[in-house]
Amino acid sequence: MTPSLDVDLTVRLGPLVLAHPLINASGTLDLFETADSLGAGRGEQLLQDPPVAAYVPKTVTLDPRRGNPPPRVVETPAGMLNSIGLPNAGLEAFVERDLDRILALPRPVIFNLGGFAPEEFALGTERLRLALEQRLGSPRAVWEKAGLELNVSCPNVHSGCMQIGASADETEATVRGVAAVWEGLLAVKLTPNVTDAVPVAQAAVEAGATAISLVNTFKGLVLDRLTLSPYLGGITGGLSGPAIKPLALRFCWEVAAAVDVPIIGMGGVASVEDVVDYLAVGASAVAVGASAFRDPWLYARLARELESELAHRGSTLADLTGCAHRGGVVGL
Ligand SMILES: Cc1cc2nc3c(=O)[nH]c(=O)nc-3n(C[C@H](O)[C@H](O)[C@H](O)COP(=O)(O)O)c2cc1C
Repeated sequence: MTPSLDVDLTVRLGPLVLAHPLINASGTLDLFETADSLGAGRGEQLLQDPPVAAYVPKTVTLDPRRGNPPPRVVETPAGMLNSIGLPNAGLEAFVERDLDRILALPRPVIFNLGGFAPEEFALGTERLRLALEQRLGSPRAVWEKAGLELNVSCPNVHSGCMQIGASADETEATVRGVAAVWEGLLAVKLTPNVTDAVPVAQAAVEAGATAISLVNTFKGLVLDRLTLSPYLGGITGGLSGPAIKPLALRFCWEVAAAVDVPIIGMGGVASVEDVVDYLAVGASAVAVGASAFRDPWLYARLARELESELAHRGSTLADLTGCAHRGGVVGL
């Protein structure tokens, strides 16, 4: 599953070293559930050689959450709307039940933490750091294995998560509290449900973020055809998939031009052309969400195709990264 041509795809996100730029978007790949569903042979293969360059688990919150009532997902033209609502067993159960097997994966991990107030993010980060230090030993071993992504942008909880990410001040306060207790990769995942994400990204970096992830889903609404009332149990949901790609690419383009930290770009990635576009607007890593539901090996295939694309163009990953801001056209 590791790319094999002679092109260096290595990506550095702070202290994390990724073999290539393709990772999963939080909440869209549970490696362990997928491995179970694949059965012994292919399931083991998935865990022994995960197709992602870093694994991003689903958002975990300090306290357990039930999530939103069903239905939670609905198909839309070239995409899907979800209103999952961050169901999870809470950080304590996550540490007890999931942390060891996640750390045993032969990949860096980018934990994704959600919350509803700046203090909650700081407390959750501190608890996670302590648990990681207990397991991995030195702080350095922690930073080389584990990064953190703050989900301040979930549109499907109605008690404040996205409100943090829609405000530069709230985001700054949240990131400042977390940066005080976390020295590893600190990515902040932004919402596209704002007119301009640049001020929020700048506030995050000012407060100590060392990467920006974008975008989370776009808030949307689908009606039940018969009753003409909202279809999803959570009423509104978040739109993802190929439908959002040009919208998400615009956010990445603008934020990459405005901040000097690595960007983790995502939104509608389904092909190597999409990966190339995100890199060209300035992303250092590219996350795949909804498109990988049917094919958990999609990330690795895209990495191999990226390698061929670079070999064909006779250019390096560094040449490609951000080239759209420098007049475009790499190789050929
Ligand atoms: C079913 C589903 C669940 C998601 N859960 C989370 C989550 O737990 N945390 C998070 O930060 N983003 C979550 N997202 C957002 C994705 O990580 C990603 O930002 C978004 O789907 C855009 O990428 P895509 O178009 O490739 O799916 C979820 C998306 C989907 C479709």
